[in-house]
Amino acid sequence: MKHKTLKGLQDILPPDIAVWQRIERSARDIFKNYGFGEIRLPIMESTDVFIRSIGETSDIVEKEMYTFEDKGGRSVTLRPEGTASFVRAYVEHHLYNNPAPQKYYYMGPMFRYERPQAFRYRQFYQIGAEAMGIEDPKLDAEIIALLSRILSGIGLEDLNFEVTSIGCKQCRPDYRKALKEFLGAKLDRFCSDCQRRFDANPLRILDCKVPSCIEERKGSPPVLDYLCGECEDHFSNLRNYLNLLSVPHRVNPNLVRGLDYYTKTAFEVSSENLGSQSAVAAGGRYDSMVKEFGGPDTAGIGFAIGMERIIPLIKDTIASPSGPDLLFCPLDGKAAEKALVLTEQLRTEGLWIEMNHESTSIRSQMRKANRIGAKNVIVIGDDELKTGKVLLKNMSEREDAKSSLQAGEILTKLRP
Ligand code: HAM
Repeated sequence: MKHKTLKGLQDILPPDIAVWQRIERSARDIFKNYGFGEIRLPIMESTDVFIRSIGETSDIVEKEMYTFEDKGGRSVTLRPEGTASFVRAYVEHHLYNNPAPQKYYYMGPMFRYERPQAFRYRQFYQIGAEAMGIEDPKLDAEIIALLSRILSGIGLEDLNFEVTSIGCKQCRPDYRKALKEFLGAKLDRFCSDCQRRFDANPLRILDCKVPSCIEERKGSPPVLDYLCGECEDHFSNLRNYLNLLSVPHRVNPNLVRGLDYYTKTAFEVSSENLGSQSAVAAGGRYDSMVKEFGGPDTAGIGFAIGMERIIPLIKDTIASPSGPDLLFCPLDGKAAEKALVLTEQLRTEGLWIEMNHESTSIRSQMRKANRIGAKNVIVIGDDELKTGKVLLKNMSEREDAKSSLQAGEILTKLRP
């Protein structure tokens, strides 16, 4: 084989694509109920869109971005996630001038140079949602309820919803100080990445995947103990609203997000059936990001669902797709011309019509009809052309119906 997909990338082929389309359709329907409009963002951005927002010391920025110079010498990056791109667009198009909350969703590929493994890809697809301009935790509850509706709407059950608060600009310095005191006492036992990040951003140490670092940070001070009054109220109200909306959830004080832009609410949805890559969706608030992008002080909250993580959880329940409504089997060149015209005419009636392009024997054409799951078959040979009459074979009931070689009559026989 001369060429293959790059490591960590995959082709998505029929019939699997039917599952993707079903999920996307279902999500779009639910987004409509919640007043979200679709936004399509470029796959590439100027690199600095991602660096400060996601965080200079995050794994994504330090190790995982597909960054290169374009022919004009500009540093560009394939988007590793959608939120930073979205906020860039939100500010660029002054979307904050529309009545709040402004609500948008997107679907598309993201790129991270991670070590590929099951359910972890270098190009992966997200369905993301962002809601802007409202600080009230009722919006947080609506967003988490929306995520829950989308996931249950596609048939996912037994998911764990975990929520926490990671504080704001007010309370973060106290927490940071407490964390540094705890970690600083044994910093030499952490990996070199953690040691490097200790001064710039000690919170990142909580996200390190090295087993010895996970062990060493056990017992570190929980962020929830350091929330300021406002963050504490926000979080307890959110929990109250989630209960009112009957969204089952658990508080996980150790929940850490891999992106730096979060403030207050953070959440993750996981499944026990995905091994180590258990997060199927995640999100949170990012109340300072719009300002950092040069826009007015505007709150924001959103989530993203990982398509490659949810598909393996539902695949078994999808029926295999059916075949064409009708297959024309011409026996020679003249018959093939007639079949070509009828195929085109009947397709305009909203039916799935196919014709065989090789005028082989009736036997081999029937074999093909079975392989592709054709519901009906019409054989056209010399006799059919002369008499203008054909038999419409129903493949499942093994019954034949007589018809003329006219699209209109064939149509009535196909749709009795
Ligand atoms: P994230 O947690 O980085 O958040 O990614 C969200 C989801 O994308 C993950 O829970 C996972 O399902 C999926 N995902 C991430 N990396 C991979 C990968 N390498 N292969 C397959 N799936 C993956 C964000 O991206 C935020 N932008 C979410 C957000 C929106 N926060 C606020 N608004």
